[in-house]
Amino acid sequence: MRFTINQRAVELDVEPEMPLLWALRDELGLTGTKYGCGVAYCGACTVLVDGQPTRSCVTPMAAVAGKTVTTIEDGNHSAKLQRVREEWVAHQVPQCGYCQPGQIMAAVGLLLEKADPSDAEIDAAITNVCRCGTYTRIRAAIHAAAKS
Ligand code: FES
Repeated sequence: MRFTINQRAVELDVEPEMPLLWALRDELGLTGTKYGCGVAYCGACTVLVDGQPTRSCVTPMAAVAGKTVTTIEDGNHSAKLQRVREEWVAHQVPQCGYCQPGQIMAAVGLLLEKADPSDAEIDAAITNVCRCGTYTRIRAAIHAAAKS
């Protein structure tokens, strides 16, 4: 199965039904993307597939063949991801941190679609769950990244 991961073309010999999250973590060693609920609810596993935020725990490899996948590890290549990560640090968003790679990728996906989203648009677009309740700081970091 061929696809592009963080600007790099790769070919993996995996079953087409293998979840993308498994391929990222176990086959490619990209452990920044986290396993949370396993049923596409919490969003800890969010990556971008062709720029769209996608729950990788329920996305089969067959669905990403020929596509471009971007994970939290791609900060050196993606200017928008780099900006969002910097604002996450500046606003001290993470608490336990487990949900944050998914939150950041969801934020990048939103900003690629909408340059300066309102609070309501952020709330509507980012359905990722944060057990530590960092939502206020997430919104602030997204606004800062949007304006830079
Ligand atoms: Fe702990 Fe979000 S920072 S779950």
